[in-house]
Amino acid sequence: MEHNEQISQIKTLMARLDSGTNVDAGGLVRNPTSVYVDPELAARERAEFFDGHPQLVGLSGDLPGPGSFLTIDDLGVPILATRDAGGRFRAFVNACRHRGVVLERRSRGTARRFTCEFHSWAYDGEGTLVGLPKEDHFGDIDRDLHALVELPAEERHGLLVVHPQVGAELDVGALLGDELASELASWDLGRLTHLGADRYDVACNWKLAMDTFGETYHFNSLHADTLASVFHGNVQCYDTYGRHHRMLLCRRDIDLLRQVPESDWNITIAALPVYWLFPNVQLMPNQAGLYLVRAYPDPHEPGRHVSRITFYLWSELADRGDLRGFEQLAQGFAEIIRDEDYRASASQQTTAASRRIEHVVFGRNEPALHHYHNTYRAALGMEPLELLDKVG
Ligand code: FES
Ligand SMILES: [Fe+2]
Repeated sequence: MEHNEQISQIKTLMARLDSGTNVDAGGLVRNPTSVYVDPELAARERAEFFDGHPQLVGLSGDLPGPGSFLTIDDLGVPILATRDAGGRFRAFVNACRHRGVVLERRSRGTARRFTCEFHSWAYDGEGTLVGLPKEDHFGDIDRDLHALVELPAEERHGLLVVHPQVGAELDVGALLGDELASELASWDLGRLTHLGADRYDVACNWKLAMDTFGETYHFNSLHADTLASVFHGNVQCYDTYGRHHRMLLCRRDIDLLRQVPESDWNITIAALPVYWLFPNVQLMPNQAGLYLVRAYPDPHEPGRHVSRITFYLWSELADRGDLRGFEQLAQGFAEIIRDEDYRASASQQTTAASRRIEHVVFGRNEPALHHYHNTYRAALGMEPLELLDKVG
């Protein structure tokens, strides 16, 4: 975030704190609970937003050097992402071309060759079929036509993006839009190194997981014993970037900046930025590094999803050596999401599934929820939620 923008956003947060005001969406909306349980909608979301949409599979630091790889199994299609010998980010269907066995089962690591467990066909990081035992017995096969199936992949602004459809067009710049692309570029996310990750299988729709990142109205109650000591609840800044958005959650340390010249202000002291990238990504850069949260719908059950939470550290901190303090901090943050936010999300799912409550309400101080729901509704050709002065 450019420094002028940091100063302006910090001043807005301070003014809201001083006046006891918050961002205002201009009205309230009623959100039908059916969107969390409807199997037809869930199938359309999976087709349009996951199977047919570019996916953030990690950050550049997840593939630190030639020969490093990642596997992704949240999307129906098994994906193998590599940094090839020339340093280029590539993605392939993680399936052997002999009889389709998943090729690499580890979640991350380094490998010069990927050897299939079934009959030991082997591929390099460019996807080339480089080993085929007993070829004289097997028969004549064109190796060029039996390379790993490649998927569109692009590395931009420290983001690793893959399109899960073979041959699809992928333009990360266009996906983000100029304004968000330059904002993300200013963070220099390529400086992040992988610290750790966690995976939660939760009994709630994937959109309920996203919803919990959509306001700070809940901080003083749901997080009374945890995050409320670090953040001022119910105070934030909010901006949209096409389908995406940015929230700035107000940290209590913002008050320290009142004694500091503006030229030394830093947004990560005053706030936790939360970038939502359509459809399922939350990026939270902070002083130590970045939290990445991604939510994936269950392939069969609208009331279940998997959240992947990945932690990164700025490389200058990672180079210092002892990482235990950072690991504990990151794990603690993830467990708050699991034990507090997702506990609430799962109970919201139970309520939605009971079909006894038709609508829930998003307040004026929850603009991210208005935008998020209207964005995916528009993408699916659904009517926007009506903005109301009063919910009767
Ligand atoms: S299925 Fe991979 S070598 Fe046979
Ligand atoms: Fe929360």
